[in-house]
Amino acid sequence: MSYDGIAQTVSDRYARAAVTGEQMCCPTGYDFEDLRTFIPDEVLKISYGCGTPAGLDTVRVGETVLDIGAGAGIDCFAAARLVGPTGNVIGIDMTDTMLDIARRHAPVVARNLGYVSSNVEFRKGMAEAMPVADDSIDLIISNCVINLAPDKRKVFREMHRVLRPGGRFTISDIVSDQPVPQYLVHDTKKWGNCLSGALQVNDYVGGMMEAGFLGIHQVRFAPWQVIDGIHFLSITLTGYKLPEAMEPNGGLFVTMRGPFSRATDELGQSYRRGIPQPVNAHTAQLLGTPPYQSLFLVSETPVILESSDPQWLAILPEQKPCLWKGDYALFTGPFAEVEDDDYHLYRRGIPLEICTKTLKVLETDAYRPHFAMINRATGEVSGTQVACTPSGGCC
Ligand SMILES: C[S@@+](CC[C@H](N)C(=O)[O-])C[C@H]1O[C@@H](n2cnc3c(N)ncnc32)[C@H](O)[C@@H]1O
Repeated sequence: MSYDGIAQTVSDRYARAAVTGEQMCCPTGYDFEDLRTFIPDEVLKISYGCGTPAGLDTVRVGETVLDIGAGAGIDCFAAARLVGPTGNVIGIDMTDTMLDIARRHAPVVARNLGYVSSNVEFRKGMAEAMPVADDSIDLIISNCVINLAPDKRKVFREMHRVLRPGGRFTISDIVSDQPVPQYLVHDTKKWGNCLSGALQVNDYVGGMMEAGFLGIHQVRFAPWQVIDGIHFLSITLTGYKLPEAMEPNGGLFVTMRGPFSRATDELGQSYRRGIPQPVNAHTAQLLGTPPYQSLFLVSETPVILESSDPQWLAILPEQKPCLWKGDYALFTGPFAEVEDDDYHLYRRGIPLEICTKTLKVLETDAYRPHFAMINRATGEVSGTQVACTPSGGCC
């Protein structure tokens, strides 16, 4: 099917859903009781997202926020409250029925929030060619939309164009743990169900990096469906359009605290825990964004971090036998690749089979935010114990 054909099928699907109120897609995690205090039920009952990109401490007062594929407007209205009367929200969508409902409720929401006039505007347009000026947006949000766009790289380039330098995105979407096969890609019905168009995580993030985004990392993930052995996940990602970096007068050094023993950032620079490294202004700026920020010390002279230092961060595996239970670790960033203290090499977006001993390490507070976990075992696993060498030779 052509790109236009896919977009038309998807639009028809959501136009129908807007009228029937059909239940679709995934659990979002909204506090509906709270939203009901200012968003009408007609909007809430046709919310078709897979996350809460406007509700994760991402939106700041006075900002200009863009919602790609706004639907009936749930996230635009949530953001309208958070930006306050001095901020603005723009929602774009390709489906007239959705836009009609969203526009009709904008004045109601403004009244409920006590605003003199609505700070939300809904525009008709495609995610691949957004009716939005260059460098004009502080924050892009989107909820379960980009998987529906046939040309995702075009969407990522458009996102980069409209964000101001220093701007960022927080996007919830459906992704997969492996490439979606052609028989699903060409299943017209599953496009509307947020399945056929899902990209594998490394491909999704790769498209964002190609467009110029950096610091891409997971804010939240939730397993959704397994179809023919393919795991579909809902993931919320944040990333940055960094401004031009100014070279400082003196040099800068960074020292990685951990929890990784070794890591390579998105610009290709590698670090070993505790060992200082000179960095240029661009890298220093990247490492100054969360969550890189909390993993590094930045200094004007080289600082060696000893393992006895309270800032040293390492989670060592228990020296116990391994049990293989079907667990896979999907590293989600913000580094391109990292190594743990058991010599596992995790490449962003590529699942790595791990045993229970490693699972325990990755479930600690230091590691958890960087991984999505999948279990691919379909039945009972006998769980025979396997001896590991002290250097981590079993997995
Ligand atoms: C799954 S719904 C999500 C709607 C809304 N974000 C929410 O959370 O309720 C997808 C929405 O994106 C719109 N959409 C899908 N593909 C699009 C595209 N390429 N350009 C613009 N809008 C698109 C559809 O019309 C639909 O309203």
